[in-house]
Amino acid sequence: MALRLGDDAPDFTVESTAGTIRFHDYIDGSWAVLFSHPKDFTPVCTTELGEVAKRKADFDARGVKVLGLSVDPVSDHEAWAGDIEETQGTALNFPLLGDPDRTVSNLYDMIHPNANSTLTVRSVFVIGPDKKIKLSITYPASTGRNFDEILRVIDSLQLTAEHQVATPVNWQDGDDVIIVPALSDDEAQKKFPGGWQAIKPYLRLVKQPQSGS
Ligand code: BEZ
Repeated sequence: MALRLGDDAPDFTVESTAGTIRFHDYIDGSWAVLFSHPKDFTPVCTTELGEVAKRKADFDARGVKVLGLSVDPVSDHEAWAGDIEETQGTALNFPLLGDPDRTVSNLYDMIHPNANSTLTVRSVFVIGPDKKIKLSITYPASTGRNFDEILRVIDSLQLTAEHQVATPVNWQDGDDVIIVPALSDDEAQKKFPGGWQAIKPYLRLVKQPQSGS
């Protein structure tokens, strides 16, 4: 059964390049990104893992723990890690989960048999501090992911969680945001005393609140 937004993120215990990971204990209280790779020693995956290692500080700044997964065993990941550092210029600095028995791949429906019967697709799950699925995106094996987009969605999710705002089409950090329809004007007045621009009664734009404000 596929996981849907709002579902509990299934727990698991697996080996990784950072030792045994008990998932719920590991992410406790944090946001998390769990993303799968079809296979070790493959070119697109090599570039993606290098990119995430380079962007680790961006995930840290948002309080997000990052975990990669590939169906190969951790011993293969460890050998591959040398290639990632050599070719991408940054060493792996987050756990890469081994999943040779497909425990996690099956729990998160990462194998799409009509695409490939044994390898995972490129799944991305963003999980909130409440351990619920906040975002799920699936890419084919042949397309490397855009981690700017994944960070952008995390920014949007965190703004919604903290400030009850949504983000409009093509929103980028610093652009105006939308007051969620669930907030009445009276409630919005308390949260946004500086006011907003009502283009329609249901389309209310407000300056992006600052994190922690
Ligand atoms: C890759 O990571 O390059 C890749 C893996 C599986 C199929 C196609 C590409």
